[in-house]
Order: sequence, then C-alpha cells, then structure tokens
Amino acid sequence: MDGRPQFLMTDPAHFDICYQINPWMRPADWDADRAACQQRAVAASRALKSALRVAGAQVETIEGVRGLPDLVFPANAAVVLDGKVLVASFRYPERQGEEAVFRSAFMQLKSRGLVREVVNLPEGVIQEGAGDCIWDADRRLFWAAHGPRSSHSSIAVIRKTFGQEVVPLELASDRFYHLDTCFCPLAGGKLLFFPEAFTPAALAEIYARVPAAQRIVATAEEAAAFCVNAVNLDAKVIMARAPETLRRKLQSRGYSLVEVDLDPFILSGGAAYCMTLRLDRTSQPSSAFLA
Ligand code: ARG
Repeated sequence: MDGRPQFLMTDPAHFDICYQINPWMRPADWDADRAACQQRAVAASRALKSALRVAGAQVETIEGVRGLPDLVFPANAAVVLDGKVLVASFRYPERQGEEAVFRSAFMQLKSRGLVREVVNLPEGVIQEGAGDCIWDADRRLFWAAHGPRSSHSSIAVIRKTFGQEVVPLELASDRFYHLDTCFCPLAGGKLLFFPEAFTPAALAEIYARVPAAQRIVATAEEAAAFCVNAVNLDAKVIMARAPETLRRKLQSRGYSLVEVDLDPFILSGGAAYCMTLRLDRTSQPSSAFLA
C-alpha cells in the first residue's frame, strides 16, 4: 500500500436488475430499455471510479460474473479493518453465489499484500459486509446494523473478530435495508443520517454518541436520492446527484460534494458507497481534518 485510500470495485459488465430483493429494484424498468440501461451503468461506474481517483484514491477492480448482477456492490462483500477481512454471508439466495467469488478475490488481494487475513463468519450468521457495518474513524468504533439483512448474531461476531467497540443499530424499514443507505460518518466527527430509518432504540444509541452539533439530518428526499450512501475522503463527499438542499447543508459545514450520475445503480437500491469497499481502513486515529 502506498498511503493512498484504497478501494475495491467490480466491473459492471454483468450488472442487471433481474430479481427484486429490495423495494427499489424494478426489473421491469430495466427490461424496458436494457441496452441503454447497461450502457449508462458502465458510464456511471467509470465516472465513480474516476471521481475516486481524482480525490486521491487507488481503485482495484474485479471482474463481474454473469448471473451475479449485484456483485457490483462490493460494500456488501466484507467488513475490512486493519487488513483483516470478514467475508460476508448474504440473506437472499440471489446473492449467495457472490460469497465464493468475493472470497477468492480477497485471497488474491492477500497474495498481493493488499489485505492480511481473510476470515469467515460462523455458520448461520448473516452479515452483509461494510454495507451494514461502518467504521467511524473519529469515534474509533463500528456502527453495525441488524434487521432487514444482517442478523443480530453478527454483532458479537464483529466485536470478537476485530476486538473493537461495536454499536448495534436496528433498522426499521425495508426501504433503508442496509446501514449505508441511511448513515454516513464524515471526517471531523459529523454524521449524515436519515433518522426515520432507525428504531427508537437505535436512534437513542446514535444520540448518546453523536452530539446535536455533529448531526446532519438528511430529508426523505435526500435519502431517497441515495445521497447518504456516500464515500467520504477528508472534506470531499462523493455521492449520487444531490438535491440542492443537501448540497447547501454539507457546504455550510465545510464539505464539498462530488456528484456522479448513478441512476442505473439506484434502480437496484445502491449508489456510491456500496459500489465500493474500502480496503485500507485502520483502527488507528484518523487524520486531523476538521470540518
Ligand atoms: N440490489 C442490491 C441488494 O438488494 C443492492 C445492494 C446495495 N448495497 C448496499 N450496501 N446498500 O442487495
């Protein structure tokens, strides 16, 4: 590793929307204009990759696999910290074939020294990777969701695997089925989040650790535009096209937005954050960026 933030992405050649496992997925809309949708997906993925590179990141890309369209969302592949990779186990059979593909990709990254160790979840524990388990570099803890996708039993496994504090957050709705659709810690300790996605107990956990001055509340419109599903690199927040309200909100807190048209992926229920997996996160104190 060369000190640059390191991300994993998947080539979108086999991206498709041919089943529905979340309420955003609309196979009929995709089918109505397949070729154009596919083309726009390739362009969107390329634009995201270039935005990451312009922001100073390094991107590793793995091949897509026919029949595994959601492989384009590597955030769901694993939780990664300090070079240790906890490989995901998916709730729906439609995505379970991805486990072996990602596991062998991680083994290759290991052989190249990009990660250190690859471990599996115990039998019967469902955990959908960094999509449901987000490292908070300022608080130095994991926020981990359970409910629609990851099972409650995953919380203790994450705790034990990484030896870090893990705050469990129960998700309250099927629309915001992964934590990364509604929760995004930002450099400097701010938190962009959509409160309605959480149960009252989960909100209490958030409020206990994030003081009001650090909270940036997303509206329903902003969350539905998949803008909370963002990649943050210091002051830059890379996301799908944002409503003006969010642009102003983040700019007034010292962040600058990098917007990418990710519509074809939003049609599958994902955007910038889940199209990537950060590989170089460490539990050490983060940089001194203060927004
Ligand atoms: N179609 C995918 C699914 O339902 C989208 C996953 C998006 N990933 C995420 N971490 N939000 O699983």
